[in-house]
Amino acid sequence: TLTQAEKAAVITIWAKVATQADAIGAESLERLFSSYPQTKTYFPHFDLSQGSTQLRGHGSKVMNAIGEAVKNIDDIRGALAKLSELHAYILRVDPVNFKLLSHCILCSVAARYPSDFTPEVHAAWDKFLSSVSSVLTEKYR
Ligand code: HEM
Repeated sequence: TLTQAEKAAVITIWAKVATQADAIGAESLERLFSSYPQTKTYFPHFDLSQGSTQLRGHGSKVMNAIGEAVKNIDDIRGALAKLSELHAYILRVDPVNFKLLSHCILCSVAARYPSDFTPEVHAAWDKFLSSVSSVLTEKYR
């Protein structure tokens, strides 16, 4: 669980990220599919070329869900319950992929807000994304 200071850091950086959420979402997916091409196998029905409508639309959905988790930072499990079932029971995404996507989101945020991305913010954001990933993968067990 996140400390009060970590929650505050996540909420502060999110206020900036939210203003560019769609672009950051799309960039995170571009990083995911180019650095870890095996992740593309979950999206055979998508046009994954850079800047495609589907890629941007999906990036926007992912960031929206992260925004919901930020808004409900004391109940991430409740906020993402439906998404958790979707990823586990229907999409069956291997949990390793959540670490890869989290890393790509982290990089996109760091690249866009370098001066805000202190070691403290880095650690808090990483821990937050790891909580989101745990919630989205916990139904597998
Ligand atoms: C769908 C969020 C990680 C694969 C979705 C949707 C959201 C979402 C909001 C749309 C659900 C809907 O339409 O009702 C997230 C978040 C993640 C995450 C917040 C982690 C931070 C992953 C990973 C993969 C993945 C790691 C695989 C590499 C998919 C696929 C769909 C989907 C294949 C369905 C796409 C479609 O057909 O429209 N995800 N996701 N997700 N997600 Fe995730």
